[in-house]
Parts: sequence; structure tokens; C-alpha cells
Amino acid sequence: MISNNMQKLINDQYHRELFSAHMYFSICSYYLDKDLDGFANFFRVQAEEELMHALKQFDYLHQVDGKITYQAIDAPPTDFESIMDTFNQTLEHERYITRHIHAIVKAALEDGDFATHNFFQWFVQEQVEEEALMRTLIAKLKLIGNNKSALYLLNEELMQRKPEEATA
Ligand code: FEO
Repeated sequence: MISNNMQKLINDQYHRELFSAHMYFSICSYYLDKDLDGFANFFRVQAEEELMHALKQFDYLHQVDGKITYQAIDAPPTDFESIMDTFNQTLEHERYITRHIHAIVKAALEDGDFATHNFFQWFVQEQVEEEALMRTLIAKLKLIGNNKSALYLLNEELMQRKPEEATA
């Protein structure tokens, strides 16, 4: 049986993952409005992955005899100044998520909850990959600058992103 403290931390994280999906769907809409279908696809896949993260945590909490305490999901940002702004906001958001994942792992160790500690290792690695991906794209956007042909090529590249297979 999971402790009340760990249950609360996972509950809060589950809602953060749902908020993340909400935020990335909002960015997807921003790109659909601009007819940048590759960028829209990238953020749609990003949003789908966040739903998968929430679902993993939902399943885990039930497996360990915990409960979800349902909370309101905040409205996502809808004002984006530029393409670069959407990626900067995404990187900042992922860093915020990483801090919370690390706090859960730390609390699980302190609680002697080795199952939760083990379960969240997947998320620790996922955050390393997500932050690296956003930093790479920010670097590419800096290289592109105002070059419309290069932006077209990046849009084509981002069109290729597919959702990951669910593994748990
Ligand atoms: Fe669920 Fe983007 O971290």
C-alpha cells in the first residue's frame, strides 16, 4: 500500500502530465493556424506522449492500491510570440517537470518506497531526452534565423515525427 505522501505526489504529477498535454495541444493549434503542418505534427505527438505519461502514472497508482484525486487542469498558455517562443516555453516547462520528477524520486527513497523509486526511473530518462530534444531544436532555429527555405525544411523534418509505442 502506497503512503499518503507518495500518493499525493503522484496525483499531482499525473495532473501536471495532463496539463503538459493541454499546453502542447495549444501550441499545436498555434501552428495549425499558421499552416505549419510539420510543427503542428511535432507538438501533437508531444501532446500524445504526455497523455501516455499520465496514463502510465494512472495505471501505476491503481496497481499499488492508490487513488486518483481528480483536480482541475489549468488553462494552457495561448499567446506565443514566435516559433522560438513556443520552443523556449516548452524547454522551460520540461525543466519544471524534471524538477518535480526528481522530487518524487527523492521522496520515494526517503519513504523507503522502492517500487515508486523504480517506476519513476523511466521518467528520469524521459526528461533527459525531452530536454535534449528541445535544446537541439532551439539550436536549429537559431541557425535558421530568417531563412524561409531552411524553415520549410525543418517543417518537413518535423512532419516525420511519429508517436512512440506505448511500452508499459
Ligand atoms: Fe511528461 Fe514532457 O514530460
